[in-house]
Amino acid sequence: MKIALIGKDGQLGWELQHTLTSVGEVISLGREELDVTDVDAVQRTLIELQPNLIINASAYTEVDLAETHVGLATNINAIAPGVMAETARKLNAVFIHYSTDYVFDGKNNISYLETDLTNPLSMYGKSKLTGEENIKQAGDAYLILRTSWVYSLRGNSFVNKVLGWSRNNKTLRIVIDQISCPTWAKALAETTSKAIANNNADISNAIRERRGIYHLAGSGYTSRYEWAKRILANDPQRTEQLVQTIEPVPSAEFPTPAERPLFSVLNCEKFARTFGLRLPNWEESLQKAMQK
Ligand SMILES: NC(=O)c1ccc[n+]([C@@H]2O[C@H](COP(=O)([O-])OP(=O)(O)OC[C@H]3O[C@@H](n4cnc5c(N)ncnc54)[C@H](OP(=O)(O)O)[C@@H]3O)[C@@H](O)[C@H]2O)c1
Repeated sequence: MKIALIGKDGQLGWELQHTLTSVGEVISLGREELDVTDVDAVQRTLIELQPNLIINASAYTEVDLAETHVGLATNINAIAPGVMAETARKLNAVFIHYSTDYVFDGKNNISYLETDLTNPLSMYGKSKLTGEENIKQAGDAYLILRTSWVYSLRGNSFVNKVLGWSRNNKTLRIVIDQISCPTWAKALAETTSKAIANNNADISNAIRERRGIYHLAGSGYTSRYEWAKRILANDPQRTEQLVQTIEPVPSAEFPTPAERPLFSVLNCEKFARTFGLRLPNWEESLQKAMQK
């Protein structure tokens, strides 16, 4: 199988670059090789490569900046995925794309199903939702995998931010009323690769029959406050921490340009039923991620 991976240098892209090699020949494209805001280049590159599978790990993920960089966020998160899906259809290739829990407004008190009403609160969430709609309209054999709170030890993730803050502050104030599922980029990449490998013989028909939106995030859920506490407890260089107190605070005390959903836990049963796979518990993954 020939796989075109777009967005190879992001948290998830970097992990996919490695895990996908067990599934097929991977052609990895970063921003330098393919700027996804150039739709002609997206089409031209994919047509030249003739892949059987296109995976899009590129995205505009600066949630607060997206409020003012609306055009750029729209081009990357909404327009480009639609063009990729359309090109995949023309090539008879499978298209896999990632979306976000921020398509929801977070007013639920039980985990979100794929069929629940979307109502993004931010421009980032809106641009990702439009991306989903464009894929549904233009695509054929596609999967849209909505995930949440993605982290790796390489990226500018919440995990690295908490570790950084812990070196410079005696007190950390962390929001307690945002609840979701932390998702280790490596676990998400491995599960994506396994789902492909398990259907390798006839990937195009297998995905066409199962096409649609799926939730796929770390199992379990937590608040940012509890997550921060677990990050500090798992820190292998704990002696470098200055922090003595972690204070729980409501989101209202941390006004940000973009509003975040308060409760955006994703119910991942549809993916588990369809592909027989689920991501490990978030605490187990965090422990593994931080041992590296
Ligand atoms: N991070 C989260 O908490 C989170 C939560 C829910 C869903 N998701 C979704 O999960 C997926 C993976 O997220 P992630 O955390 O791995 O994101 P990430 O680390 O921010 O990576 C995004 C990648 O996209 C690339 N990119 C941005 N603009 C581009 C352009 N114009 N042309 C080509 N490449 C471009 C970036 O390149 P540069 O390195 O050059 O900037 C970066 O490598 C995304 O679809 C995201 O929306 C993420």
